[in-house]
Amino acid sequence: MCGIVAYIGEREAFPIIMKGLQRLEYRGYDSAGIALLNGDMTVYKKKGKVKELLDFARDKKTSGSIGMGHTRWATHGVPNDVNAHPHLSGDGRLSIIHNGIIENYNSLKAALVKLGHEFTSDTDTEVLIHLIEEAQRHDNLPIEEAVRVALTKVVGAYAIVVLDQDAPDRVVAARKGSPLVIGLGENEFFMASDASPLVEYTKEVIYLNDEEIAVIKRNGDLQIKTIDNKIQSPFIEKIDLKIERLEKGDFDSFMLKEIFEQPRTIQDCMRGRLSSKEGWVKVGGLEQVVDRVSAAQRFIIAACGTSWHAGLIGEYLFEELARIPVEVEYASELRYRNPIINETDVIIALSQSGETADTLAALETAKEKKALIYGVVNVVGSSIARVTDSGSYIHAGPEIGVASTKAFTGQVTLLTLMAIHLGYSKGTIPRSYYLQLLEELEQIPHKIEKILAKDKQIEAIASEIKDATNALYLGRGYNFPVALEGALKLKEISYIHAEGYPAAEMKHGPIALIDENMPVIVIATNKSAYEKIFSNVQEVKARKGKVIAIVSEGDKEIKAIADYCIEIPDTDEPLTPLLSVIPLQLLSYHIAIMRGCNVDQPRNLAKSVTVE
Ligand code: F6R
Repeated sequence: MCGIVAYIGEREAFPIIMKGLQRLEYRGYDSAGIALLNGDMTVYKKKGKVKELLDFARDKKTSGSIGMGHTRWATHGVPNDVNAHPHLSGDGRLSIIHNGIIENYNSLKAALVKLGHEFTSDTDTEVLIHLIEEAQRHDNLPIEEAVRVALTKVVGAYAIVVLDQDAPDRVVAARKGSPLVIGLGENEFFMASDASPLVEYTKEVIYLNDEEIAVIKRNGDLQIKTIDNKIQSPFIEKIDLKIERLEKGDFDSFMLKEIFEQPRTIQDCMRGRLSSKEGWVKVGGLEQVVDRVSAAQRFIIAACGTSWHAGLIGEYLFEELARIPVEVEYASELRYRNPIINETDVIIALSQSGETADTLAALETAKEKKALIYGVVNVVGSSIARVTDSGSYIHAGPEIGVASTKAFTGQVTLLTLMAIHLGYSKGTIPRSYYLQLLEELEQIPHKIEKILAKDKQIEAIASEIKDATNALYLGRGYNFPVALEGALKLKEISYIHAEGYPAAEMKHGPIALIDENMPVIVIATNKSAYEKIFSNVQEVKARKGKVIAIVSEGDKEIKAIADYCIEIPDTDEPLTPLLSVIPLQLLSYHIAIMRGCNVDQPRNLAKSVTVE
C-alpha cells in the first residue's frame, strides 16, 4: 500500500524517481506525486496513475539531484490531487512521503490546530509533517532530530522520507511496520519500499529496521539511529534480482507473464530441494528446526487472501501426509481474538509480499505465546522473512500483477515439499508413495506447460461466459481451496461476483442461485470423489446451469454432460491444485481482458496490504 522512492546523489533525480514509481505502482495507483529540492521545494501531485504525473510534469521544472516520489493507495481522504503525497509543512519548507497509517493523527491534529497549524488535506500524513515542523521550530532542531522527536509521539505504522529545503544536503528516512530499503551506489543513495527501483543502480542494500531513522548526506555520510537515539551499525546486504524479472517482456500484462512463468517458478522453488532419483527432499529452513516441527502438537497457518487459500491446501497436505493437525486462520482474525497458542505449536505464516500488516501482527501474537514461527515468503528480506524463527523462500521472483498467481503455486509447492518431508521422516507415508510423490512433483512444471498450451481453448470458453454477473466455483478435497482461489481471481480482476464452495455444500444454499445464466465452474479431477462430483454436476445441469468442468485427461462421464470441458494432465491427488488452478487463472484473465479491465491494477486493490 503506497510505494515510496527517493534519491540523493549527483544525477538528476526526476527520471530515477519516476521510473522507480512505475516499478512500485503495484503497491497503489490512485494518485502520485514528486518533490525535488532545487533551491526551492518543487512539488507536483496528480490524481491517477504515475503516467498522469509524468505527463503533467514533463514540461515543467524537474531539475534537482535530491528528490522523492510516492504512489498512493488511499486510506485517509479520497484519491485527489490535494490528498496525494508529498505533503508540505505549513511554511512549505519541509515535505514528506509516507506509507502506513498514523493512528493517533486526530489527537495530534487537534493539538497542532491549537498551536495555529492549518491543514489542506484529509490525510494523516500531513499531520506528521506539521508535527515535525513544530518539533523543529520549537527547539530549533536539525531536521533529523525533529523527525526523531516527532516520531516518538506517533502511534501507527510508517515508512517515511523527509526533505528540508534548508538542509539541501540530506534526506531523512524512517520506518516502523512498513518496509524501507536503502540502496548504496557510488556517491549516491536510493530509498524505496522494495528493491525493485534500485536494482539497475546497485546490488548493495540496507533494510532499515523498525524504529530506525537514517540520515543520508550527499557527501556519502550515512547514519542510522533508533528512535530512542541509539546509533546503529548499518548491515549491508547483497540483492540478487534481475531487471528482466521486473519487465513485462513480450507479454501484454504482468499477470499473463506471471501465469506463463509458472513452470519455471515452480522449478525454481524445487531447485536443490528434491531428487526423486536419489530419493531425497530437503527444505533448508525446515531442517534448522526439524525437531521442534516434527514434535509439534499442531500447525497454525496464518495468512490473508490468496495466501490463505494456499494455507488451506497446506491443511489437507499436512494432515494427510504427515498426520499433523492443522488450523488455517485469517491473520486478521487470529490477531484480534484471544487464541489458544502454546509453545508446542508451529505457526506458519504464508505471504507473497512478506509485508501484510495483519499477518505480521498475527506473528507477533504467536511470538508472545512462544510458538515457533515459520515463514513461507516470496519477497527476500521482507518484514515477515525477518521476524520468523526460520522459514523458506518460494523463489517465485517479483510478482507485479496485483492478482497473485505464481506466488500461489510457489506457496503450494513449498508446503507440498514440507509435507512430504515431514510425512516421510515421521513414517506416516511409506517409501514407495514418498518416491512416487517426488517423481510426480518433478513432472508438475511439464504438466503445467501442457495446460498453458490450451490457452486458446480457455480464451474461447471465456468469451462464452464473459457477460455473466455471477459465477459459482465448486470443488472437493484438495480442489475446494482451488475453487475459492478461482472465484477470488475472477472477482478481483473482472469484477464479476463469484463464490467458491465445497461441491457438496451447493445443495445447502447456493443451488438456489442456479439458472441458465449462472456459469458453474466445477473442478472435477479428484479420483476419490469423482462419483460425488459427477452427481453435483448433474444437479447443476438439472437446473439449467452452464457447467465449465476442469477434468483429468481422458475423462468421459463429466465430459458428456458438461457444457465446456478443460482437460488437464493426471497427477496424484495431493498435487492436483498445482495443475487445476492454472486454467482458472487463465479463465479469469481472459474474461477480465474481454471486459476491458486492467488486470495488473484492478480497481481499489493494492499488492501489498501494509495497513489493517
Ligand atoms: C489476491 C491477492 C491477495 C493477497 C493477500 C495477501 O490475488 O493477491 O489476496 O494474497 O493480500 O498478500 P500476501 O501474500 O502478500 O501476504
